[in-house]
Amino acid sequence: MIELTPRLDETLEEALYMQLYHYIRGEIVAGRIPTNNRLPSIRRLSAHLGVSRTPVALAYDQLLAEGYIISKPRSGFYTADVETFSISPPTTYLKDQSNVPPSIPRSYHSSQEDLALYDFGYGSVDLDSFPLTKWRKLMNRCLLPENSRLLLYGDLQGDPELREEIATYLHQIRGVRCSSEQIIIGAGTYHSLDLLFQLLKRDVSCMAVEKSVNNGVKALLEQFRFDLHPLHLESDGIRIEEVYNSKAQAVYVTPSHQFPFGMTLSVNKRIKLLNWAKEHNAYIIENDYDGEFRYNGRPIPSLQSLDNDERVVYVGTFSKVLTPSFRISYLVLPHTLLEQFRLGRHSYDQLASPIFQKTLQLFMQSGDFERHMRKMRSLYHKKHDILLQAIRHVFQDINIDIIGTGSGLHILLRVRNGMNETQLVQTAKQKGVIVYPTSIYTLKQELTATPTVLLGFGGLSEMDIRTGIELLNKAWSAE
Ligand SMILES: Cc1ncc(COP(=O)(O)O)c(C=O)c1O
Repeated sequence: MIELTPRLDETLEEALYMQLYHYIRGEIVAGRIPTNNRLPSIRRLSAHLGVSRTPVALAYDQLLAEGYIISKPRSGFYTADVETFSISPPTTYLKDQSNVPPSIPRSYHSSQEDLALYDFGYGSVDLDSFPLTKWRKLMNRCLLPENSRLLLYGDLQGDPELREEIATYLHQIRGVRCSSEQIIIGAGTYHSLDLLFQLLKRDVSCMAVEKSVNNGVKALLEQFRFDLHPLHLESDGIRIEEVYNSKAQAVYVTPSHQFPFGMTLSVNKRIKLLNWAKEHNAYIIENDYDGEFRYNGRPIPSLQSLDNDERVVYVGTFSKVLTPSFRISYLVLPHTLLEQFRLGRHSYDQLASPIFQKTLQLFMQSGDFERHMRKMRSLYHKKHDILLQAIRHVFQDINIDIIGTGSGLHILLRVRNGMNETQLVQTAKQKGVIVYPTSIYTLKQELTATPTVLLGFGGLSEMDIRTGIELLNKAWSAE
């Protein structure tokens, strides 16, 4: 098991260890943590949750005493075989399922002509760390004659075994509660959102959207002609009053690491947003595109994991945690939308290659994915810290704020040196460094008050990060 991601709240009267105990017990009883599954060690879980070891140890003790888990010498804690309720939606949605029928990309790094020495592209990942040999071995297995069916079209919703792996993974890493039936595999986030917007179109005409939004998403929203209600961004995410003051029937958010500005939606606001969605029978679209990477503080569980009313659609991708080239993303649909999907209210065809899907499933099943993810978390954490140190150390004479830190694969620099955003980007380029503008992401194009540029760090080596920052300092200090 990779991790467990409950919501822990120190302001509650209930002690942290009891909150953790209740969460794990609930997940075991509901069958979302299968029997004989090894739980994270006390040391690892306490590090992941940002708490001391004591509450974790106490919670495990309690679960041991009550027989929910067992301890195997020199191996760890495992879930015991307890009688479980069948996996059901975590909600009041009890509708009879018997009548449910069976079952614009943009560039994230510089173009070929533009190849710069130091490209802080925010879509890049660390290629040297990709486990090519393992991947090749598994892919070769998929290409054996006995697997020739993988050369044909796959299941419309995506490979069923891969969906099982994803459901388990999302539960562990982001607290998402779903069955594999609710998952639809897509060929990248825009492909998944395109499908989602088709399913929503009947119920949603007005959508509240973070004021700045990824440009591929922006293009899709415009294409679907939603009446867009922009939401201002504060240090803890969107302004909830603006959602209440809108006529929106859905909200689009990037709560883990707002794109592009990098703030995290606070737990308070998450709960208010979920209340709004419940009161208005509205949907929340949660794009958790780089939610796997959080470098300090406690992991904030996804909105989906806090949702008891099936209002959240969870959208995710393997582009950051693995590599963008496989083009594999997924939607976790509430049952109402799943019904729309099954009824064929879309022109969707499943585009993610069955061979890549199967390879990914084998990769996840083998435990290699878990190992890769752990390695990348620590590598990106290191790069993130090196980037911040370099900026703080090098930019002594320029007034700069660093924002959007602590998670994801990019940060932002607010620069006050008299240059506008275009000049910042261009002078950097003259020194062989590519940084990215942010004003292009606002729903109604406008310049941000203080010029702000975006720097991804996933694809650069530690040395290149340092050199790139030194060159930026030279570019932006020049008279
Ligand atoms: C907000 C957002 N969502 C999703 C993605 C990834 O999309 P895809 O799954 O198409 O690679 C990105 C890429 O940077 C992004 O910025």
